[in-house]
Amino acid sequence: MSALEDLLTCLRFPSVSTDSKHRSDVRACAEWLKSKLSGMGLTAELHETPGHPILVAKNKRLPGRRTVLLYGHYDVQPAEPLNEWLSPAFEPTLRDGRIYCRGATDNKGQLIAHVSGLAETLSREGDLPVNLTILFEGEEEIGSPNLKPFLEAHREELACDVVAISDTGMVGEGIGTFTYGLRGIACMEVKVHGPSIDLHSGIFGGAVANPVTMAARLVASLHDEEGRVAIPGFYDGVRDLQPWERSSWAELGDGDAETLSLTGSPALFGEPGYTERERRWARPTAEVNGIGGGYQGEGSKTVIAREAFFKLSFRLVPDQDPARILDLAEAYLRAKAPPSVRLEIKRGHTGMAYLMDPHSPLGKAAQRALETTFPGGKIALIREGGSIPIVQAFKDVLKADTLLLGLALPDCQAHAPNENFPVANLEAGIRLNQALLRELAAC
Ligand code: BES
Ligand code: ZN
Repeated sequence: MSALEDLLTCLRFPSVSTDSKHRSDVRACAEWLKSKLSGMGLTAELHETPGHPILVAKNKRLPGRRTVLLYGHYDVQPAEPLNEWLSPAFEPTLRDGRIYCRGATDNKGQLIAHVSGLAETLSREGDLPVNLTILFEGEEEIGSPNLKPFLEAHREELACDVVAISDTGMVGEGIGTFTYGLRGIACMEVKVHGPSIDLHSGIFGGAVANPVTMAARLVASLHDEEGRVAIPGFYDGVRDLQPWERSSWAELGDGDAETLSLTGSPALFGEPGYTERERRWARPTAEVNGIGGGYQGEGSKTVIAREAFFKLSFRLVPDQDPARILDLAEAYLRAKAPPSVRLEIKRGHTGMAYLMDPHSPLGKAAQRALETTFPGGKIALIREGGSIPIVQAFKDVLKADTLLLGLALPDCQAHAPNENFPVANLEAGIRLNQALLRELAAC
């Protein structure tokens, strides 16, 4: 089977981790990957969790070799809204050199690139240059709730010198990109309860609080006029950007123009004093991911809904603590809510931000592998705004740094309709896997 055929097979599993009706599809994808890895001569095992299975595979251990842990995730985000896909979300389709499918970039394309790189080395040389442990999980897109306990329970079995992941971005086509930092995350859902039943807004309007209005007020109170987060203490402990980061990011070109064109927003908006890249990669944020309540159907309905809701996520940077941020946010919202409504607050998943030194020997080895894979240009050193919650746990539990070697293009549409991955990046990823293991074995 070619790498491309393997990727197409992997993509056809609708392994949506958040949706219980896809539970068996998530497992089927894990089973397929397990038999793929066993077929390559690795010992592969599925470990059950309260959620989706964790796949661990290894080559034979030889003393004196470096041990590398390769992490990836085989779960994907939901594909909705389905009517915005130009081809069906779970039927991988090739157009103009790109594969369109949910999961094409995030993370199956990048994961299969590594698997195919390993398969090539194993069939050519019979072994790999390092002791390799593969750790693929099916719950990254829901915050990896079962992976940290798994790391803690299998410390010895998973012990390694370094972790490698391809689940981040490239600054542009053909530009080798090394990511040395990720933002963390903390999520929360808020229900705003008002009257015990829906009310006629003419009969009762003016005498009771409207939960939808109160939800809107609370959401609006999260930021000041200019976009700074207004929660007291939110910025405590936020680490400043290093001067070298600011100047090297500024050399990456006009970020404002690129983000305007990628997003289609009429203008940029954000915290004063920082460039667009600095805001996305190194500053914390509060985002409303959903808000609702009241009548959503056609025409008008004069009603005061008995409840409204909003969903928040905070992106965090070193050294913010996700649990403390949720404490601060909850206290702030409760203090702002008038006695005429009652808040019900549910905390969601959290993950720490991550930051490593890209100039460390392992960081430099990874950059050499990127130079071999994407010859002719300078390697971009970046942080990313997205989160991979388990990365800081690799540091805390396994004491290992993570090398983030992304293959996602800026217009890959991850999490959105028409997600895509270039066949050229699959091929580059296969080369990258081999160059990386060679560099890590030698450094
Ligand atoms: N691959 C992304 C993380 C990512 C995205 C890193 C963009 C760098 C740039 C990952 O699959 C992801 O989407 N993570 C979630 C984590 C969340 C669900 C806990 C995220 O960032 O929203
Ligand atoms: Zn994702």
